[in-house]
Amino acid sequence: MKIAKLDCPVHTLDSRLLLPAGKELTSEVLDELIATNKDTPYQVLSFLEHGTVYQDILRLIQKPPYHVIFDGLKKTYALNLMKKISFIPPILESLDLFEERDFYTYRHSLAVFAMSTIMAQDLLEKSEDWIMEIMAGTIHDLGKICVPPKILKKEDPLTAAEKRILQHHTLAGFVLLCYYLKDRRSFAAQVAKEHHERRDESGYPLGISLSDRMVEIIAACDVYDALLSPRPFRPTPYDNRTALEEIIEMAKEGKLSWEVVQTLVSNNRKDRPHFQECKVSTEKRGTPPEDNLYGVIVKRDMEKEITCPNCHGFCIKRESYKEGVEYISYECSSCRKEFDKDDLLNIEMGKYFET
Ligand SMILES: [Fe+2]
Ligand SMILES: [Fe+2]
Repeated sequence: MKIAKLDCPVHTLDSRLLLPAGKELTSEVLDELIATNKDTPYQVLSFLEHGTVYQDILRLIQKPPYHVIFDGLKKTYALNLMKKISFIPPILESLDLFEERDFYTYRHSLAVFAMSTIMAQDLLEKSEDWIMEIMAGTIHDLGKICVPPKILKKEDPLTAAEKRILQHHTLAGFVLLCYYLKDRRSFAAQVAKEHHERRDESGYPLGISLSDRMVEIIAACDVYDALLSPRPFRPTPYDNRTALEEIIEMAKEGKLSWEVVQTLVSNNRKDRPHFQECKVSTEKRGTPPEDNLYGVIVKRDMEKEITCPNCHGFCIKRESYKEGVEYISYECSSCRKEFDKDDLLNIEMGKYFET
C-alpha cells in the first residue's frame, strides 16, 4: 500500500499545526494525532438548519441545469435525506469560512453534496447507511482551508509549486477529518483523500485506482459542478452539454466508469431513462470556453533563471546522466551549493507557509 506524505503543513481552522510538511501518514502517525483530540467533546448540529444552508441549496437546485436533475420527486427526496444529516461544529465552521472567503468552494460543496444524493439513489442499494457516505460529499474539499487564498483565487496560471500546494487539499482534508472525526478509517476522510484519484491511476495524490463506487460518484459530481462554475482561471463556465461531454470523455479514457457517467447523463434527461438503458453519445459537439487556463503551469521557476535559495546568488544549470537517466541540478555560482528540482520546489512551496 502506498503511504502518503505531506507536501505542506496541516493547520486547523484556529491555526494550530496538526502535522508538519514532510510527515508520512502512517497508521501510527494518525493514531497518535487522533489521541490528542480524543477528549474533545463535540455536539452534532443539523446541517440544513445551519446558517443559510437550506436556502442556498434550494436556490442552487432551482437553477439550470440542476433544476432538471432536481425535478419534482427528486427534489423532495433529496431534501428529506439532507434533513437527517448533521455535522460537528468544526466542519460547519469550515463551511462558514468558505462562505465568507471562498464562496466558490462553499457553493460547490453544497452542489456536490446535493448531486451525490441523487446519483447514489440511482446507483447504490437503498439503505439509510449510505446517508453517512453522502455526507462526505459536502466536506470533500475541507482541506482547502490549508491552501493560501492567494492560490485558490489566482487568475493567472499556477507555478509548479502552487499546483502542488493546491493538490495538498486532498491530504490536508484527510488529516483534518481523521482528527475531527477521531477515526482514520472514516469514509469522509477517505473521500477527502481520494476524490481526485481516477480509475486509470492518473489522479492524485497517490495515483491509485479509484475503486469505491461512492467515492467515484462524488468524484464525478465534483468534476461536473467544477465545469459548470466560473473559476478564477476560467471566468466562463462550461455549458451543460459541453460539461457532460467532458465527463463522457473521462469514461472513454477509463478515468470514470460508464455506469457513473450514464447516471449523470440520465439525470440530465427529462424522460430519465434507467441508467443502464441510457444511451450516451461519444460525439463531441459542444464548445469549451476559450479563456481556460486550467492545467497551464508557469515554467519560469524550472526553466529560466534560478536564484540560489541559500544565498540568492545566480545558479548554473547542470545536466548529467546517472545510470542512463538524465539528471538536472543547479549549482550556485557564489556559495557553490547544489540543488535539484525537488529541492527548489520544496523551498518555493515552503515560502507560502513561512510565518
Ligand atoms: Fe477537490
Ligand atoms: Fe471539489
